Amino acid sequence: MKALITFIFSLTSLFFSFSLFTETGGAAAEKDGVYIVYMGAAASSKGSLRDDHAQLLSSLLTRKKNALVHNYKYGFSGFAAILSEEEAHSIAKRPGVVSVFPDPVLELHTTRSWDFLKYQTSVEVESNPNSDSNSTSQDSDGAIIGILDTGIWPESESFNDKAMGPVPSRWNGTCAREQDFNASNCNKKIIGARSYDVDQRSIIKYHSPRDMIGHGTHVASTAGGSEVQGVSYYGLAAGTAKGGSPGSRIAMYAVCSPHNGCSGSSILAAFDDAISDGVDVLSLSLGAPSFLKPELANDPIALGAFHAVQHGIIVVCSAGNAGPTPGSVVNAAPWIVTVAASTIDRDFESDVVLGGNKVIKVMIFFGPLSCLLVGRFRHFYSLTDIQGEGINFADIQKTPTYPIIYAKSAKKSGADENDARNCNPDSMDQGIIKGKIVVCDNEDSLYAPSEKKDEVKKLGGIGVVLIDDESRTVASTFGIFPMTVISSKDAAKVLSYINSTKNPVATILPTTSPTKYKPAPNIAYFSSRGPSTIPKNILKPDIAAPGVNILAAWIGNDTVEAPEGKEPPLYNVISGTSMACPHVSGIAATVKSRNPKWSPSAIRSAIMTTAIQINNLKASITNEKGTAATPYDLGAGEVSTTGPLQPGLVYETTTIDYLNFLCYNGYDISTIKNITNNIPDGFTCPKESSIDLISNINYPSIAISNFNEKAGRKVNRTLTNVAGDDKTEDAKTVYTVSIDAPAGLDVRVVPDKLQFTKNGDKSSYQVSFSAVNPLKNDVFGSITWSNGKYKVRSPFAVSSKNDD
Ligand SMILES: *[C@@H]1O[C@H](CO)[C@@H](O)[C@H](O)[C@H]1NC(C)=O
Ligand SMILES: *[C@@H]1O[C@H](CO)[C@@H](O)[C@H](O)[C@H]1NC(C)=O
Ligand SMILES: *[C@@H]1O[C@H](CO)[C@@H](O)[C@H](O)[C@H]1NC(C)=O
Ligand SMILES: *[C@@H]1O[C@H](CO)[C@@H](O)[C@H](O)[C@H]1NC(C)=O
Ligand SMILES: *[C@@H]1O[C@H](CO)[C@@H](O)[C@H](O)[C@H]1NC(C)=O
Ligand SMILES: *[C@@H]1O[C@H](CO)[C@@H](O)[C@H](O)[C@H]1NC(C)=O
Ligand SMILES: *[C@@H]1O[C@H](CO)[C@@H](O)[C@H](O)[C@H]1NC(C)=O
Repeated sequence: MKALITFIFSLTSLFFSFSLFTETGGAAAEKDGVYIVYMGAAASSKGSLRDDHAQLLSSLLTRKKNALVHNYKYGFSGFAAILSEEEAHSIAKRPGVVSVFPDPVLELHTTRSWDFLKYQTSVEVESNPNSDSNSTSQDSDGAIIGILDTGIWPESESFNDKAMGPVPSRWNGTCAREQDFNASNCNKKIIGARSYDVDQRSIIKYHSPRDMIGHGTHVASTAGGSEVQGVSYYGLAAGTAKGGSPGSRIAMYAVCSPHNGCSGSSILAAFDDAISDGVDVLSLSLGAPSFLKPELANDPIALGAFHAVQHGIIVVCSAGNAGPTPGSVVNAAPWIVTVAASTIDRDFESDVVLGGNKVIKVMIFFGPLSCLLVGRFRHFYSLTDIQGEGINFADIQKTPTYPIIYAKSAKKSGADENDARNCNPDSMDQGIIKGKIVVCDNEDSLYAPSEKKDEVKKLGGIGVVLIDDESRTVASTFGIFPMTVISSKDAAKVLSYINSTKNPVATILPTTSPTKYKPAPNIAYFSSRGPSTIPKNILKPDIAAPGVNILAAWIGNDTVEAPEGKEPPLYNVISGTSMACPHVSGIAATVKSRNPKWSPSAIRSAIMTTAIQINNLKASITNEKGTAATPYDLGAGEVSTTGPLQPGLVYETTTIDYLNFLCYNGYDISTIKNITNNIPDGFTCPKESSIDLISNINYPSIAISNFNEKAGRKVNRTLTNVAGDDKTEDAKTVYTVSIDAPAGLDVRVVPDKLQFTKNGDKSSYQVSFSAVNPLKNDVFGSITWSNGKYKVRSPFAVSSKNDD
């Protein structure tokens, strides 16, 4: 974990050092930093500047010739420029300026496990455990998925355009020409590629849509990769790789670089271009670190996404990898689809086999210390096979012939015992480690597992068995060194075997990748959790999708990632909400191409109301604790690949809903008029924009905070019929409600029947929540409308607490 932590630190230290000099201010040029000047809506004629925008820019540029970093003019107005703090303050007061804020550095949402940029997360391309067998996406020609990420490796077979028709004529994007990228790298699959100039903070300049990290290539192939047969990770997870929407086109916006992270000013520039280019879906597997959650006015993703959605583009973002801490979800604005990560039914299993040559009696004591004598004898007769997780291509004996030792017992004299048991560098005795398999704890985050591996290897150890419950669920890559991760429950067996045996022996088996693992899906431990804090009255995350051990395309020359003696991998296995997000982007693209007129919110509703709540054991999907997952873990549930194509009814979230949200966030009507041109006649902010009104936003889920059992609470929702068209019988229908309410909460829906006669019909209902006794904890349930053919389900969360 250390490498990741170092990476976050380098990001945050950039961020902090940056904030520092903005605080200390001063006109000294070297203290200037990049600021984003956000000015709301774009000019009405495309690509020209609003007058106030043009004036502000020209007055700045006459004073500071090279200050401009990006100019935003297609989807919204504003710019990024190198400014002193004083200049930033003064610009913030100019007419037409909505907010001015230091350019933040955002992070990729790969898991925090192992070495961040090298052993990242993985997304499963072809297998969604709960999906129906039919692909939803073969005929989704025409949808264009824009991806903001690290770039793309265009030579990957996943981006072949064999099955693709001509590039849609409405496409207005471009294929960048850079030192290692040009128009010949685009085709009928990759139809656009742009990259963004890094700012003056960068030490190493790199400016190309070509992916140097792998993350963007992985994400792009997961969202819209073509079907490729016979792919694997060196034989593991072998099968057919296929994006969520193989018929879709990909446009890559390279906003992150290995040395500079993902800058907010580049992200806004990419949103601006993508709006003008004509993408249908935007997919962002990145965001602010959860401890730096920006306010709406300073959040480049929320601002860019707002304008994208106003232009009819659905924006799908990862929820973050800061779970399981409650309230850690990011990218939670109500116009964004926020995606949590779940496991799939494939395991990367590397087992530990313990020797059984000795039959030994172990006394295991039960009960409190005072009853020490209440014990019983346990016998070890035969080989014990402990299931471990991790990817290694070990080539050692498959029978347990290697001495195994707990690292604590190998402590070097003078070293700290904690360091020793965690296999930290310079803490273990070479003479003891040599020739042995070493069991290591992973209870401090000072060193990454790969560093522990390197230390044991250096001392002549044969292999490593790492104890870590969280990482046990997410495969890490260990190359050819025998290493695996086991749970603490299994570790007790291993350690007691070591303790009770005179010459304990073991071996570590090379990895296999069995499928049909049960239960699956589960919510991944790292997946960021609700409740949202901006505010709690929008339930987030929205949906869960596969984000653990996902096989997808990789850059073609990653010699560092390649296990010793092997060619660089063309497909790689990584994990994170980064990998979950493009699964949903792909499904959104398919829904969009089948229903070109549907709004972004209708598509989101279709995805959420058809989600799945049960796992492959026909039980509730669980979280990392093994208990039933709540909407704070998985939103509406695990995404279905077929359900969203035919949702029956949808919740349309209107511009008025979003404007009300802006009112709640402190914008007055005059500012809102500057943020969007798209204001319905007569719209005003409610006099008292209480948080309670946010619950009334016509969202496909319901969240209530500050619940008072005496007063109760009522919320309204409106459904729109999207079945059939006005000629078919499918559209003429009656839905009835069923309610799943938690104990202690009374939930009523009026009316309990909704009638629709044609496509486009709308019908409203009201939900009343009441209780006799105060709620001790946040409680959850759901409301489902069904007509025998379609089920339209909305989860709800009710909390007596205020915003966290
Ligand atoms: C809205 O924009 C106009 C024109 O630039 C400006 O005069 C006005 O001050 C802006 N309103 C707010 C609240 O920023
Ligand atoms: C899968 O597709 C086939 C052919 O289009 C169709 O007959 C079948 O009903 C579909 N199955 C499901 C589960 O949708
Ligand atoms: C584009 O790049 C390829 C190699 O990637 C090169 O062969 C070709 O000459 C380049 N074309 C142009 C116009 O620069
Ligand atoms: C197409 O892109 C150009 C700039 O690249 C822009 O000026 C123009 O407005 C765009 N057209 C549309 C229809 O968005
Ligand atoms: C192993 O034995 C030591 C000393 O007898 C004891 O402190 C320790 O708790 C034992 N560990 C296990 C896992 O049984
Ligand atoms: C991979 O290829 C890129 C572009 O051709 C190059 O800049 C980079 O140095 C290569 N990386 C390695 C590890 O060879
Ligand atoms: C909610 O619905 C009820 C009953 O239809 C209606 O009386 C009330 O005005 C609605 N409230 C809002 C805020 O729309």
